[in-house]
Parts: sequence; structure tokens; C-alpha cells
Amino acid sequence: MLELQGLEKRYATGDLALKGVSLQLGAGEVVGLIGPSGAGKSSLIRCINRLVVPSAGSVVFDGVDMGRQNARGLRAARRRIGMIFQEYALVERLTVMENLLSGRLGYTGFWASWFRRFDARDIERAFGLLERVGLAGMEDKRADALSGGQRQRVGIARALMQDPRLLLVDEPTASLDPKTSRQVMRLLLELCQERGLAAIVNIHDVVLATEYLPRIIGLRAGTVVYDGPASGVDQRVLTHIYGDEDWSAITRQIPGGAAQADETLAPALALQEAAA
Ligand SMILES: Nc1ncnc2c1ncn2[C@@H]1O[C@H](COP(=O)(O)OP(=O)(O)O)[C@@H](O)[C@H]1O
Ligand SMILES: [Mg+2]
Repeated sequence: MLELQGLEKRYATGDLALKGVSLQLGAGEVVGLIGPSGAGKSSLIRCINRLVVPSAGSVVFDGVDMGRQNARGLRAARRRIGMIFQEYALVERLTVMENLLSGRLGYTGFWASWFRRFDARDIERAFGLLERVGLAGMEDKRADALSGGQRQRVGIARALMQDPRLLLVDEPTASLDPKTSRQVMRLLLELCQERGLAAIVNIHDVVLATEYLPRIIGLRAGTVVYDGPASGVDQRVLTHIYGDEDWSAITRQIPGGAAQADETLAPALALQEAAA
């Protein structure tokens, strides 16, 4: 459903943020994009919907070459791509319901949205989504009166208003506490499964990424240096992505990971040695 070929991004400042990234995503596939700050994670997801215009390479989404669209074609493709940001990007002075309905602006004509006249079906849809993300009854609360976790739930519900096929999620948990982070990750994953949505989730917390995301892509200085199962993220891979460090405290927590396998094997091996 998504294919990136040789994607490059050089900013006007001369910074080469992406150095030829190629990857494929199947329908309903969910991946975690990890890497140090400045590795190009945000640039990569923004190149997909052309919030950032790539310098070279191609993005093909559901058979549509994003670089060859006119304004109308690009708008149509973007409607099928939902974005969720760390900073929630809510309109502070608007209510939860108004924020959700603004996620529908891609469909509503300019004047209709100008007068904030929304389709009754959209309002119904918004109520359903609020209930699904655990915010039933919060529709009239102002965005600036919500907690971080609630704001992120509004961000998720708003991204789903346009019924996307792909979610681009940039550091969804960066400003949340550990428990709220886990709740938000679980909600995201459940929604992707329920709706068959593909997602790319930028996330700098390796343990959180490997706990919830089955496939991990590691980015270092604009280059993909790992693309494989979460359980394959080990000492060697983390050193490759982030540099030299003792990663054992992290690899011990990776589900099904090599370090865990070693630990579960260790007592058995010790027993074998004792028996010999
Ligand atoms: N708008 C921009 N203008 C110039 N350079 C940028 C811009 N956005 C990002 N960069 C540079 O591109 C590189 C990758 O940044 P980014 O994609 O934000 O990485 P990450 O999200 O992994 O932290 C960095 O060197 C950063 O300074
Ligand atoms: Mg970033």
C-alpha cells in the first residue's frame, strides 16, 4: 500500500536529512520508526504526504505517485492519510467536537467550513469516535482544558474522522507519562487492527516501540540501518542505530528478544553443565 524508493531530502539549509530511503508497507501493517534525534524520522513521515517535498525519489501510496499529482490529486490522496503529532496540534480555544470536525475539512467546501456548518453524519461520526477513544461526554470541553492523554486521544479521533488508510504518527507519547504512553500506544494499535489501518509510528522510546510494534525500522543519519521484527532489535542493532553503549538494560525488556532468550536459556544451560 506504500512504497518509498530512494527518498532523499536536502533542506534549503544544506542539511541532508534523508539519504536514499527505500521501504515498503503492506495494507494494515504497523511499523515503529526509531533512531536518534536528527536521524530524519519526522522528515521521512512528512515526505510521505508531501508536507515536506522530497529532493529525490518517489512515494507511491495506494498506487498513486504522490510526486506526480496536481493540487486536487494531492488533496484526495492526503485525505486517506491521517496525521497524529506529539504536540497534538489542537485548536486550543475550540471544543473537542469542533477540533474533531476540523479533521473533516478536507471534505467540506470552503464556505461550509467557514460558517462551521457541518454535516449531521460527520457529527454522528465524531460522537462515535469520541466514545471509542474513551472521551464520551467530553465533546463540549475546550481543548485547552484537557490533560495530555486526553488531548492525544482527541488527536487520534480527529485523524480518524477522514477515514484514512494510513496513519503517520510523530512521537505520540513524547510528552506523556509512562502509564498514559502505554494506554495511548495500546489504543492506537487496537484502532489500526479494528480498521485495517497501516501506520508508521515515530517513537524514540525503544522499549515502548518494541513492546507494541511488530516491525521496527531503525534510521541513522538519514539511512535505514535496520528493518525487521521487534524481537531482532538487540545489542548489535541498537549500537548500529544509536552508537556504542551497553544496551543490556534495554534489550532485556524487548519481548521475545535475544537477551530474553539468553536469560531463559541460561538456567537450562547451567543445569546441563552441572549434569555433565
Ligand atoms: N525545516 C527544516 N529546515 C532545515 N533543516 C531541517 C528542517 N527539518 C529538519 N531539518 C534537519 O534535518 C535533519 C533531520 O531532522 P528530523 O527529520 O526532524 O529528525 P528526527 O525527527 O529524527 O529528529 C536534522 O539535521 C534537522 O536539523
Ligand atoms: Mg522528529
